[in-house]
Amino acid sequence: MSTDLRSRYLGLELRNPIVAAASPVTSSLDSLKQLQDAGVAAVVLPSLFEEQLEHEEMATHNLMLAGSELSPEARGFFPEMQNYNTGPDNYLKLIGAAKRALSVPVIPSLNGHTPGGWTRIAKRFEEAGADAIELNIYFLATDPQSTGAEVEKRYVDLVASVSSMVSIPVAVKVSPYFSAMANMAARLAGAGAAGLVLFNRFVQPDILLDELEVAPHLVLSTSDELRLALRWIAILRGRVKASLAATGGAHTAEDALKLLLAGADCVMLASSLLRRGPAHVGALVSGIEKWMTEREYTSVEQMKGSLSQQACPDPAAFERSNYMKALTSYTGDSV
Ligand SMILES: Cc1cc2nc3c(=O)[nH]c(=O)nc-3n(C[C@H](O)[C@H](O)[C@H](O)COP(=O)(O)O)c2cc1C
Repeated sequence: MSTDLRSRYLGLELRNPIVAAASPVTSSLDSLKQLQDAGVAAVVLPSLFEEQLEHEEMATHNLMLAGSELSPEARGFFPEMQNYNTGPDNYLKLIGAAKRALSVPVIPSLNGHTPGGWTRIAKRFEEAGADAIELNIYFLATDPQSTGAEVEKRYVDLVASVSSMVSIPVAVKVSPYFSAMANMAARLAGAGAAGLVLFNRFVQPDILLDELEVAPHLVLSTSDELRLALRWIAILRGRVKASLAATGGAHTAEDALKLLLAGADCVMLASSLLRRGPAHVGALVSGIEKWMTEREYTSVEQMKGSLSQQACPDPAAFERSNYMKALTSYTGDSV
């Protein structure tokens, strides 16, 4: 009997649960086609950033006010973006071209953190043919005067604003750094998020000792990072009215299987595609299918969430008691 690998995510039918996450691998039509040929079930385009949209508005403004200067932030930001995506017009063209060339769902990503006119571009994503939108809210609350309640409201308002502009589903990619993650997830779903993409991975700055400078430092993930999303997906499965996508640390078929058992509707890949190229998807999908056949699972839908917190025999394993158990069970093997 063949295994049914299809999975529903954001109301879309995916041919299998493997999705290409936003990264440079999804930034050109050629590599998008390679990803589809290799077996991915959907693609998330690299983000279009709030700062790029503001830059456009500022640039138009500057033409009218000859001689005025861009802010140092905008000047510093924009040159770095030029090799990643080249602004709204080319981004909208990429959405359209991807839609014409691919049969798998195309999900553009909008990345920002402040309420404002930049969110209007979501409508143009939809008009360009997007099947859904991923809204990445990438915000670090550094102001000591800013409260948790204000930060949470910012997220909820942004989700409500973008969702109200479009009729396609909106998935929200957030960080795990909330005091009450489960409540936040429910509020995001209540504000209109059809899906949650767990989790955003903050790029942590580093200090360069020779140069005495602070520099961004992006390292690719390893499978060790998987368990943050694993825990929260298992906890949220069945508790929030939203699809769940896992991102962060999925490299092997085993990684993907664990996330599906926890309750993910799809597993997104960035680092493993950057390291191994699109062909890696084929090995992953066949690894998932092989394991499922051996275990006599007939479909991904049947398997999804079968070890979520609600379904597993030891729900406390996802909570605090697991912490005590982990500490007391340490044997020193890895020293
Ligand atoms: C080089 C690079 C560029 C990325 N660009 C984006 C982006 O534009 N928008 C976004 O939401 N995430 C972006 N990400 C994050 C990935 O989509 C993904 O969530 C993260 O890398 C964790 O998954 P991984 O462990 O498979 O790499 C990027 C990641 C990398 C490594």
